[in-house]
Amino acid sequence: MRRIVLDTDLSMGEPGSEIDDGFALALAAADPDLRIELVTTVNGNTDVETATLLSLHLVERLGIAGTRVVRGAAAPLTRPDRARSASAETVREYGRPIPAGYAAAEIARLVMTNPGEITIVAIGPLTNVAAALALEPELARNVQEIVVMGGVFLGQTLQSGMPGEFNVWIDPEAADAVLHSGAPLRFVGLDVTTRVRLTREHAERMGAAPGGFGAFASEATRTWIDRMRQEHPGDPELADSCAMHDPLAVAVVTRPDLVTWRDAHVSVVTGDGVARGVMVTDLLSSAEPPAANCRIAVDVDVDAFMALFVERISGL
Ligand code: RIB
Ligand code: CA
Repeated sequence: MRRIVLDTDLSMGEPGSEIDDGFALALAAADPDLRIELVTTVNGNTDVETATLLSLHLVERLGIAGTRVVRGAAAPLTRPDRARSASAETVREYGRPIPAGYAAAEIARLVMTNPGEITIVAIGPLTNVAAALALEPELARNVQEIVVMGGVFLGQTLQSGMPGEFNVWIDPEAADAVLHSGAPLRFVGLDVTTRVRLTREHAERMGAAPGGFGAFASEATRTWIDRMRQEHPGDPELADSCAMHDPLAVAVVTRPDLVTWRDAHVSVVTGDGVARGVMVTDLLSSAEPPAANCRIAVDVDVDAFMALFVERISGL
């Protein structure tokens, strides 16, 4: 049994919002070999208050309401001006008291009281993880591993406005701290996650499933694909499907075989220049390579992952 902290910028539940963090939480709940010890939230896809309220709502919907949800960083490490704030409408609809505590402290406490036992699955910007590493320098040696959805290693985003992958681009200073931590790291980046796609047909299948989650999942998927199609008319891939970035990072915790891994030395461009958040990847082929600081996903068994995903989500 793998015990995890899921660190997320979850926005599933707000109409038309990114859904993959919500599906990642659902997939974790459906994995018989995973135990979710803690959900922590972070500013990213949405503001941290919304991510927390929606996470509290989703754990109830998934029938795992006993799972602790703790609020984390409201802004990237070095950019307090980039904190997003909750809409009055969201607070009205989902508002409830937010449990006490801070994500970084809770992550550090959980890892240090369970040495070698806890895996952090980070599916939003890495702010909380970097803060936890700063609070507790021994965390890197005591965490089982950190699995990150983030980065693009073998290509580019091909968007000059966001040259780095979103989670890394939002807080590259935090990603840099994680890369320098010495913790065992696996990165699942856009090179593979853009290939695992949930289609309108998958949505229909999930909607027809007898469990309580399918109808909600199906509706959220259709709405998100509609929005992507509208916002990216020049991208045919986005017309009828959306990428399951974060669920793939959850799946590889217990099913590392779904992905092909390579050792690498990765650095990240920090600061506010034109290459903010871009990963510089060394695949260690030179005679005197740098030491590897992580493993990166370079290929994925798309059919195996999608079959597992649809089956598990439909069973909820
Ligand atoms: O780049 C993909 C990441 O950013 C995922 O974590 C997803 O939730 C998106 O917003
Ligand atoms: Ca995310």
